[in-house]
Amino acid sequence: WIAGVVGLAIAYLIGSTPTGYLAGKLLRGIDIRNQGSGSTGATNVLRTLGKWPALAVLLVDVLKGAGAIFFAGWLYPRLHGVLHDMPPAALDLQAWLPWAVCLAGLAALLGHSRSIWLNFKGGKSVAAGLGLLLAISWPVGLGALTVFGVVLAVFRIVSLGSMLAALTAIALICGLEQPLPYRLLVISGGIYVIVRHRANIQRLLAGTEPRLGQSSPESK
Ligand code: G3P
Repeated sequence: WIAGVVGLAIAYLIGSTPTGYLAGKLLRGIDIRNQGSGSTGATNVLRTLGKWPALAVLLVDVLKGAGAIFFAGWLYPRLHGVLHDMPPAALDLQAWLPWAVCLAGLAALLGHSRSIWLNFKGGKSVAAGLGLLLAISWPVGLGALTVFGVVLAVFRIVSLGSMLAALTAIALICGLEQPLPYRLLVISGGIYVIVRHRANIQRLLAGTEPRLGQSSPESK
């Protein structure tokens, strides 16, 4: 369990890296949490700082999600081996590694939106979630990304694309032959991403959610 706690803490810290916040501070000296939707995600960086900072934040946030999965998969067997004085090859990895890696993925998702460096605020975990998906099952990640792209092209509303992509990921992971921990990670992560969009859902219902290129939403 020591390996488990250490791995979870590192994954949470990877997710906590406040990419969008740092972009706002470094490029314009502003706190992005006081701008636009208040999110530190790439969409709010796009509205507030422009397309190149948004692209950079998007890429780093995707890498945070994927990185947490790969790092956990690399770290756990070694840490466990050291703590039990066994080489990684001697461990029964199949029994527990996918579960441990998926918990680390959830910790990274949580860290992205509840960052320890930002008073437990942050983004909506969409880009980090995409990174997780691509790392555990790239067909599911690509499927979700495709739905996101189509919805964005048709409606030009990022939040709508994000939520429909999360639902697509849940449907795909349940429909495809995938291990149970992966399914549980995507179902819980997808629901979490949708719950993080509560304010967006209210604006969508009220018809006030901004489209791509439109000015900021009023409510934070
Ligand atoms: O990636 C988050 C996106 O779905 C919504 O962002 O800033 O419009 O709330 P935002």
